[in-house]
Amino acid sequence: MYKEELAKIMDEARQWLRNARTRVDIEEARIKVLGKKGSLTGILRSMGSLAPEARKELGKLANEARADVEALLEAKADEVKRAERAAQFKAEAIDVTEPGVAPRLGGKHPITLTIEEISRIFMSMGFSIAEGPEVETVFNNFDALNAAPNHPSRDLTDTFYISGDTLLRTQTSPVQVRTLQRQKPPIKVISPGRCFRTDTPDATHSPMFHQVEGLLVDEGVTMADLKGTLDVFAKRMFGPEARTKFRPHFFPFTEPSAEMDVSCFKCGGKGCRVCKGSGWIEVLGCGMVHPNVLKVGGVDTERHTGFAFGMGVERIAMLRHGIDDIRLFYENDMRFIEQFK
Ligand code: DAH
Repeated sequence: MYKEELAKIMDEARQWLRNARTRVDIEEARIKVLGKKGSLTGILRSMGSLAPEARKELGKLANEARADVEALLEAKADEVKRAERAAQFKAEAIDVTEPGVAPRLGGKHPITLTIEEISRIFMSMGFSIAEGPEVETVFNNFDALNAAPNHPSRDLTDTFYISGDTLLRTQTSPVQVRTLQRQKPPIKVISPGRCFRTDTPDATHSPMFHQVEGLLVDEGVTMADLKGTLDVFAKRMFGPEARTKFRPHFFPFTEPSAEMDVSCFKCGGKGCRVCKGSGWIEVLGCGMVHPNVLKVGGVDTERHTGFAFGMGVERIAMLRHGIDDIRLFYENDMRFIEQFK
């Protein structure tokens, strides 16, 4: 009678466990069999009323049954755990063969690249980089640079004035003044930066543009040093065949002043569209620093002399890359910008 009941309980237990799919199912089955009110627990409890012989026999069977059920529970728990793990792996699997989404890589702007190249060349000759603000004083931008009070560039039509004595610098030359006031000779700096003039934009003009300024002050500096330094620059920038020539010019802050031309890198000097038939391309302004400028910086002009130069970055980038409209630099058309990566 008890044996049959035990067999029935075991059948039931197997049945429940067979159907268990989750940890909750298993726990429910365990409670139904081994819990306080479980079927097997019930039998064990009721055994107290049996004769000792029968109790002993049944006790043994019931204990075996209990061990059986526990083993079954454990096996099922294992199975469920493995199934869960497999399902999790499947859900989290990544297809390593799936083509990725290529990130869009940015690149440096052609003006930045040109400034970096110019800077590298001068840094390799021992120049360091000096910086000055885009909002300048009228004094640093004009007066300290020996510009006559009636110089046309001071005119409201050329300069963005902010107030009576401040403006957006029209050139990087005021960095010369700042450097001379900050440092004692020997001085050997270049200064790349943004400049502003009230020009109406067209193919060759932009109200915002870039220059690289240069300044060298030391004992015994001559025009030969100026020409040698800038000739090295031209050959590194435009190719070893590049030749330079210096034409007299006027700048208020240098005396004598010159403009440097480079033999046309396109035709080698024979004359072509790039050099407009002349064989030469104007590249920068330069000269020996005017004593009035050195004096503003507190330099002893009996002991020290210096040279300076300034070049337009856009112009150099346009020449080298055959770009015919300066406005292309500022329109941020990716088709243009991406060509210079
Ligand atoms: N500041 C001049 C300009 O904007 C360029 C220049 C010419 C700079 C001669 C110099 C220099 O330092 O010596 O046109």
